[in-house]
Amino acid sequence: MALVLTACVAGPAGASLPSAPAEATQTVPPRVPDADLRTLDRVEIPDLHTVTDGDNGSLVYAVIPQVSGYDLLNERIRAIAEEARGRSTGRQDGHRPPRGIVNVSWQALGSGEDIVGFLLSSLVGPAAGPTVGERSVWYDADAERLLTWRDLVTESAQEDVVAGMLAQLRHEVVFPDLERAESVLRTGDPVVGFSRSGGLVLGFDEDEVTAVAGAPRFEVPVSDGDLTPVGVRAREATLAPAPLAPAPTPPPPEPSPVDCRKESCVAITFDDGPAGRTTSRLLDILARAQAPATFFVLGTQAQAYPKVLSRIVADGHEIGNHSWSHPDLTRLDARAVRKQILRTERAIEKATGVTPTVLRPPYGARSKKVDAIARKLGYAEVLWSVDTRDWANHDPKKIVASAGKARRGAIILMHDIHPETVDAVPRVITKLRKKGFTLVTVSELLGTSQAGKRYYGTY
Ligand code: NI
Repeated sequence: MALVLTACVAGPAGASLPSAPAEATQTVPPRVPDADLRTLDRVEIPDLHTVTDGDNGSLVYAVIPQVSGYDLLNERIRAIAEEARGRSTGRQDGHRPPRGIVNVSWQALGSGEDIVGFLLSSLVGPAAGPTVGERSVWYDADAERLLTWRDLVTESAQEDVVAGMLAQLRHEVVFPDLERAESVLRTGDPVVGFSRSGGLVLGFDEDEVTAVAGAPRFEVPVSDGDLTPVGVRAREATLAPAPLAPAPTPPPPEPSPVDCRKESCVAITFDDGPAGRTTSRLLDILARAQAPATFFVLGTQAQAYPKVLSRIVADGHEIGNHSWSHPDLTRLDARAVRKQILRTERAIEKATGVTPTVLRPPYGARSKKVDAIARKLGYAEVLWSVDTRDWANHDPKKIVASAGKARRGAIILMHDIHPETVDAVPRVITKLRKKGFTLVTVSELLGTSQAGKRYYGTY
């Protein structure tokens, strides 16, 4: 296997070039070579969403990718971001390091039908001189496992790759720690990906194998025969990306064992969405807390965010109908009311395959006429018993306080279109659970419900 010594080429062979001016050589700082690692400009991962962690008061900002349904992959990516945060707060030699930045960002390295690769880059440390950290995460969706570079290269070719990497380190880097490098290659998880020309690229973290600034990366050419079958797929995913297939749908969740006649149940509900960012963030929070909720969605929003809508169902929440465009239904004629409800129903069905059975009329405005139409269309009307007034106060403290006043059987009204409401939700959940309540969807709370009837809660 030939080596590519990227930094050694001085000019066309045989050309006699004048030597570079002395001052130019002096001003060039020592730099580690940094082989071209191909990242994808366009991400072909339909179920990808990102999670952002950070606030304006700190120098922490982390954006990481998550792919719905691929738990092992998502967990690994979250662990890498956590690790970067940990490095910023960890004590060394008993001293607290100076307040510094944590910045985590990502790029896709490859995407194929059953394989995906990401590069997570972190900057951690004092604002003036943070350290570059890089991790690659390759996931074989077929075998449901994470891959290191040793999974991509056949055992017989691995020796050549290690030798090639060490030779380049020795040539290209000032004072390389070859022993450390070899141990990282043989047992660690160095960054791995492919170059534009299909060469294998492996990289180390800053300060891992040399004191010179920068994270050294080298390319080693490999033939198809040097790669394992999954290695060939990873290279294809880099050079000719294709959309990653959605994760196999998990078996439908067991019917909830919660019996609200025995347990003390409350239902949290969110109206007027789905919105893009706030609803996605809310869904992350609910998933972490394993808290079910009910979303009364608008048809216009459902049409705009069908993916968020399908995630609501996939995550085990209930979807209710909140009309197409939020008019006061009592002021419309019967035909217009039916249209408001049915158009929304179709949008929900189209995005999720689920037909809603609960209707929340906008503003809680109902009349005999609206009741009759709801009955005919098969909807129970669900109002609320606790109004957090989140749409007026935009104050997480007030939202938590009023939600906390819920009694057993309460239906709590909130709106997933307001960021402050989403901010309040973790504390709302904690508070309700501390009071001994079990969170359920509206239909679980009601047990059985009747079309055309009105429900404010079960007390
Ligand atoms: Ni509303």
